[in-house]
Amino acid sequence: MKVLVTGGAGFIGSHIVDNLVNEGIETVVVDNLSSGHRSFIPEDVSFYQADLNDDSLEDIFKKERPNYVIHQAAQVDVATSMEDPTGDARTNILGTIRLLQLCRDYGIKKIVYASSCAVYGDAGDCSIKEGFSINPLSYYGMSKYTPEVYIRLFHNQCGLPFTILRYANVYGPRQTPKGEGGVISIFLEKMRNDEPVTIYGDGRQTRDFVYVKDVANANVMALQKANNEILNIGNDTKTSINELFHHLQTLHGSTHSPQYKPSRAGDIMYSRLDSTKALNRLGWTPTHTLEEGLIETINTH
Ligand SMILES: NC(=O)c1ccc[n+]([C@@H]2O[C@H](COP(=O)([O-])OP(=O)(O)OC[C@H]3O[C@@H](n4cnc5c(N)ncnc54)[C@H](O)[C@@H]3O)[C@@H](O)[C@H]2O)c1
Repeated sequence: MKVLVTGGAGFIGSHIVDNLVNEGIETVVVDNLSSGHRSFIPEDVSFYQADLNDDSLEDIFKKERPNYVIHQAAQVDVATSMEDPTGDARTNILGTIRLLQLCRDYGIKKIVYASSCAVYGDAGDCSIKEGFSINPLSYYGMSKYTPEVYIRLFHNQCGLPFTILRYANVYGPRQTPKGEGGVISIFLEKMRNDEPVTIYGDGRQTRDFVYVKDVANANVMALQKANNEILNIGNDTKTSINELFHHLQTLHGSTHSPQYKPSRAGDIMYSRLDSTKALNRLGWTPTHTLEEGLIETINTH
């Protein structure tokens, strides 16, 4: 079994690579290093610095002949998507279509795709199930959803099996203070530098934080289970940004008060995922509470 991980040098991708390597699974990483780091993955893992839209991607498939693809590579910053929707779509939509073509042409047994709670938009203060209406508020949410439709079409047209995982806000070691779920790493960096943190809006917006090692486990489990399913991957808990700030302030010992600024375009008010389906189909359930995950994240730095 050989697994190609796109975006494998990134935050979540590198934890997936760790899991695969620990399980003795041959692993190949493709990453353009736009936000990832070569140092996040073990030296002896085959690594190709390439863009999803590069012609060289086909050469990698030809040479490596992977059986499975775990697709994490993406433009992950909501604010960037609002400024440059075309660039966002080029990576997230066109890049994924190109990857799907190669999966089809090289007989890939399955693709596992990293989608996002951003596809749901504002669902109100409730726990969201997979059947909830799709209504992205940002171009990023749209560019994560459109590939889901392509993936289902590729499955219908040429039988490519898939699992789509819609992650809640992922956090943990190696997260850089950028990107979709970066609020914890942004706050921690500010606290380490003894600077005040900025909260956009009134801080009462809530998020469902899920620990990166739990998300990595879900990806590896999905290689063999939950064929042609869409699954939420979250903790089904709501934590307001104000509560998160106070947790981190207590754990880190920072003395600064937060600075409040107006909320940003594309930001969601509430987000919480019901992951019962992932438990039923994958046997997956999160193993880290927010408290445990935050302590591990702080101690890993
Ligand atoms: N972090 C979260 O909270 C979160 C939540 C929901 C979904 N996701 C999804 O999870 C996946 C991983 O996100 P992450 O948080 O680890 O972000 P990340 O930026 O750390 O990882 C993305 C990786 O993809 C690489 N990449 C970007 N564009 C590329 C391209 N065109 N070609 C090749 N490589 C490219 C980057 O260099 C990086 O290593 C993404 O698909 C993201 O949309 C993340």
